[in-house]
Amino acid sequence: MFEALPKHVTVYEVGPRDGLQNEANLVPTEDKVAFVNALAKTGLSRIEITSFVSPKWIPQLADARELAETVDRVEGVHMSALVPNRRGLDNAIAAGLKDVAVFISASETHNKRNVNKTIADTLRAFEDVVRPAQDAGLSVRAYVSAVFGCPYEGDVDPARVLDLCQTLLETGVYEISLGDTIGVANPLQVEGVLALLTATIDKDKLAVHFHDTQGTALANCVAALAAGIRTVDSSVGGLGGCPYAPGASGNLATEDLVAMLHGMGIETGIDLDALVECSRMAAGFVGHDLPSKYLKAHIGKQARARRKRERAQSNSQ
Ligand code: HMG
Ligand code: MG
Repeated sequence: MFEALPKHVTVYEVGPRDGLQNEANLVPTEDKVAFVNALAKTGLSRIEITSFVSPKWIPQLADARELAETVDRVEGVHMSALVPNRRGLDNAIAAGLKDVAVFISASETHNKRNVNKTIADTLRAFEDVVRPAQDAGLSVRAYVSAVFGCPYEGDVDPARVLDLCQTLLETGVYEISLGDTIGVANPLQVEGVLALLTATIDKDKLAVHFHDTQGTALANCVAALAAGIRTVDSSVGGLGGCPYAPGASGNLATEDLVAMLHGMGIETGIDLDALVECSRMAAGFVGHDLPSKYLKAHIGKQARARRKRERAQSNSQ
């Protein structure tokens, strides 16, 4: 199973978007700007910073334009945003972004709850987004949600996922991220779905996006890597969830992913310590602990080292 593991993995950071879209309290724009700027210095090459969606649907990201206009542009770092329609695309272009992502669900009910349209109407709306974005020089990614299960419909037929992925690739998107929106996938299921998809779709056109509701995201990730996938979405600290998917918890935590990959000798180009500082920063401005295991272990290790130093000092006095 492990012979096929890649030497390098691209980590696609979604914390500022997928993470912050689900926070109960609004995060001030200046905190988000500092967060994205810090992330851009960690060695990450792809960061999804926000969404140009309706502020009535996602008030947490209503400052998309200001954020995208304000963050530092760093060479080699692609900053992207979700766009559901032409208006979102126009706003993303006006804010100077060169990368956008469209999103759709493999489940009719989740799609309707998420964007208030049928799957067919969503695909029609993409005609007004994907080609015009490319004509304007932008790269377009696509997400397919509920690939491994839907909060409303339960099981999702992998053949529907395949169909949808093929249709999306025909529109010209450069990559499709397969979303386990509510974190119900297991490694065997991941292996099965990816075997079906990669029989006809180039592995380099697929990425995986696991939420960690049941603690299986890292295991699923290893199954995806063994199946030849080389791009993994994650969120610093494990921030996140989908507001229109009840039960969805945070994404796989970026530092948990990076620590595991580095431990396995797989390169990411990311500075893990710098990433942990971003996670601490996020925990500070959201005002609660984050689920990342690596972060908790790191904080514990630092606290133990501090207590040891303090004991040594008091013994020497
Ligand atoms: P709607 O209500 O059906 O459509 O929303 P509408 O055209 O009637 O628009 C409603 C209002 O929003 C109008 O304003 C529009 O002008 C405005 P009003 O006239 O009422 O004042 N509007 C916009 N405003 C700003 N930017 C826009 C825009 N478009 C319309 N682009 C719509 C349809 C798609 C807009 C809405 O359903 C929406 O914004 N949905 C977003 C939902 C969302 O962001 N969900 C989370 C992201 S997906 C996810 O998390 C899954 C993922 O992580 C992968 C995984 O985990 O599986 C990607
Ligand atoms: Mg998500």
